[in-house]
Amino acid sequence: MILETSGLTKRYGTHAALDGVDLRVPAGSVYGLVGPNGAGKTTLLGILAGLRRPTSGDIRVTADRRRIAILPDTPQFDPWLTGREVVSLAAHLVAAPTPQSAVAARVDAVLADSGLAEVADRRVGGYSRGMLQRLGLAATVVGDPELLLLDEPASALDPVGRREVLNLISRLRGHATVIFSSHILADVQEVCDRIGVLRDGRLLFQGTIEDLLVGRATPAYVVRLRGGAQEAEAGLREQPWVTEVRSEPGELLVGVRTVAEAERNLAGVLAAAGARVISLGPREADLEDVFLELIS
Ligand SMILES: Nc1ncnc2c1ncn2[C@@H]1O[C@H](COP(=O)(O)OP(=O)(O)OP(=O)(O)O)[C@@H](O)[C@H]1O
Ligand SMILES: [Mg+2]
Repeated sequence: MILETSGLTKRYGTHAALDGVDLRVPAGSVYGLVGPNGAGKTTLLGILAGLRRPTSGDIRVTADRRRIAILPDTPQFDPWLTGREVVSLAAHLVAAPTPQSAVAARVDAVLADSGLAEVADRRVGGYSRGMLQRLGLAATVVGDPELLLLDEPASALDPVGRREVLNLISRLRGHATVIFSSHILADVQEVCDRIGVLRDGRLLFQGTIEDLLVGRATPAYVVRLRGGAQEAEAGLREQPWVTEVRSEPGELLVGVRTVAEAERNLAGVLAAAGARVISLGPREADLEDVFLELIS
């Protein structure tokens, strides 16, 4: 575990924004923190970053304290700086003495990665909300942190931007640990190894998505097809890990024994059947239903 908390509590007056949170975050994981408005996500990330003090409870971090970076939910910068200057500043704040040219190259690469290459020399006072969020992310990753705390990093982004941020987070897996908060379950489901569900300051669930789904709903996949549905259905019915196949116009609903077996085998069976697959993904309803059940 790179980060563990025990009994973490934060009170504002009599109101507990966090109430006995025991967070366990394995090193190298992507941890998704989900929960409705006011659940305590921002409070928790702020405390983990050292920006707020807990009322009680402990935090154990094995990451180098200087290599923890946070992206606030609404990043703000001095409006007269250019995007490049913001990212360079962030790079210089954390970099050990490094040749100027190496820092400049790193800054350029991160700006390009964040989709800001073209606006890098404009003043950030004129940036849109989405551009500011991209810039915040760029300033967060430029110092190569060991632990990244991202508070709703994709909330202001268009679908393309969201996809880019999710890809960026996926690329960090293994060499950094990422904790990010989100309202968007599909995003969490896609990139997280683990999730924590917060409501009213309490951690209602923590574990893998598989754990969350186990025993609550049978996992199922939706396969949209342009052709070969009959062959695909026949092929799927022969699999021991397939519990159910329902055929609907243009798609198959495939019930599976475990998510892991489906992830390993489903695409292969469809390919072997010669099916023309438009899309393939977990039935959204699973996680959504479980989530709503948990938080309501
Ligand atoms: N500085 C503060 N003073 C008083 N109460 C606060 C403060 N910050 C947060 N709270 C309260 O703590 C609770 C948790 O807020 P927090 O911002 O952590 O939730 P959140 O999960 O990030 O919500 P959102 O999804 O809307 O961002 C809320 O009830 C909020 O009103
Ligand atoms: Mg918040």
